Amino acid sequence: MSFLELAKSRYSVRKYEGRPVEPEKLEALLEAAKLAPTGCDNQPLHIYVLQSPEARAKAAKCTRCTFGAPLVFLICYDTNTSWKREYDGYRCGEFDASIVVTHLALEATDLGLGTCIVAWFDPAETRQQFALPDNLVPLAFLPCGYPAAEPAPRHFERKAVSEFTTIL
Ligand SMILES: Cc1cc2nc3c(=O)[nH]c(=O)nc-3n(C[C@H](O)[C@H](O)[C@H](O)COP(=O)(O)O)c2cc1C
Repeated sequence: MSFLELAKSRYSVRKYEGRPVEPEKLEALLEAAKLAPTGCDNQPLHIYVLQSPEARAKAAKCTRCTFGAPLVFLICYDTNTSWKREYDGYRCGEFDASIVVTHLALEATDLGLGTCIVAWFDPAETRQQFALPDNLVPLAFLPCGYPAAEPAPRHFERKAVSEFTTIL
């Protein structure tokens, strides 16, 4: 599959089969996360792999968007170790973690799995449920599993390329 075919195949899955994600697929997903580039290669990531019913129940207390997935990732970044731009002090942990989320979502698609990137969660509840240290910022939940139903792809509703590009 070409990259464009892979990107077109990914869509937000909001209904999952109950069957678990195989350990070798989980391993491949985490390998894809590991390969994501980060600012200055600082790798300020921490990923919680929520598989047990208890862990997924905790996730469901933080967001209504776990969609019954058999596996949920919680992607965080470390504010102590993310690369800092000297000009203005900007730290790129959120940037880094976003790329990790993208790698996970695209690798999942390649493995025949579905995901949905979830930013609609309660950060304070998330900190509490997972006892996050102060330096870890939760960026996204990512439910993952085998899609239960065919989607209505939304790619075709995207803006035209000319609407978001400026060619100089
Ligand atoms: C940063 C970000 C946050 C998102 N948060 C949520 C969310 O909290 N709940 C949800 O159901 N979908 C969420 N989505 C999924 C988007 O709604 C979805 O990607 C968009 O509508 C395009 O559809 P597609 O993913 O099927 O191409 C999020 C996507 C992104 C990139």
